[in-house]
Amino acid sequence: MNLLEVKNLNVYTQDKIQLLKEVNLIVKPNSIHAILGPNGSGKTTLANTLMGLVTNKIVKGKIIFAGQNITNLPTFKRAKMGLTLAWQEPARFEGIKVCDYLGLGMKNYDKEEINRALNLVGLEPKIYCERLVDEKLSGGERKRIELAAVLLMKPRLMILDEPDAGLDIIVYNEFYELLATVKKETGAGIMLITHREEAGLIADSATLLWRGKMIISSNFRQTMRRYCEMSGRKKTCKLKTCLK
Ligand SMILES: Nc1ncnc2c1ncn2[C@@H]1O[C@H](COP(=O)(O)OP(=O)(O)OP(=O)(O)O)[C@@H](O)[C@H]1O
Ligand SMILES: [Mg+2]
Repeated sequence: MNLLEVKNLNVYTQDKIQLLKEVNLIVKPNSIHAILGPNGSGKTTLANTLMGLVTNKIVKGKIIFAGQNITNLPTFKRAKMGLTLAWQEPARFEGIKVCDYLGLGMKNYDKEEINRALNLVGLEPKIYCERLVDEKLSGGERKRIELAAVLLMKPRLMILDEPDAGLDIIVYNEFYELLATVKKETGAGIMLITHREEAGLIADSATLLWRGKMIISSNFRQTMRRYCEMSGRKKTCKLKTCLK
């Protein structure tokens, strides 16, 4: 069974501006699906639509998650079914301890579970649990903490909106490896919204959006090639070195 199926999805604003046109894509369980596209192409709109966070918009088409039509379900029900979204600009809880931050969403604070999540994202609990969520954490450490927070929701599909934004070249390669590990360890699916061709190191499949329109949804290599062609970057795209 497919984990997520998006069928002929169209999204409009109330005053009929079309934000997404005929998006069709499939995410398989235990796979990483990249969403590619330039600024303003509709990636975040797609993520919000999948999560049900577009209440003032008109949504046509179908979203099937784990075999169930969720197109009209409220966000909390989607979340209960195991769909999670980490925001492009996540809310900051400055000044509280990392472990307290991670425990915020838990019914009963479970230290062992938090430690497991920290270990999985490569942060030693002994060092990080008591640290404060503040600007002293590096960008990469923050991303890892955000990912740990997502993992604690026990998602079946994690939608990550540009988790690689703002990371430097070494850190984002590490971060991709981490996502591959998380996929393997949890069996969850990951929808990775990104600008980076290096995502091909871990992505199993990909969709390209362009001005709200789905251009192609295929394996990463073919989708990335199309993206390079359309953005006139044929020469600069590092297809050979970056793709599996
Ligand atoms: N309510 C709205 N009314 C009008 N235009 C909107 C509305 N919401 C989004 N848009 C427009 O839809 C387009 C897609 O926005 P979206 O945030 O989905 O892009 P994106 O692909 O995530 O871009 P980025 O890479 O910059 O994050 C943008 O041009 C945006 O201005
Ligand atoms: Mg966006």
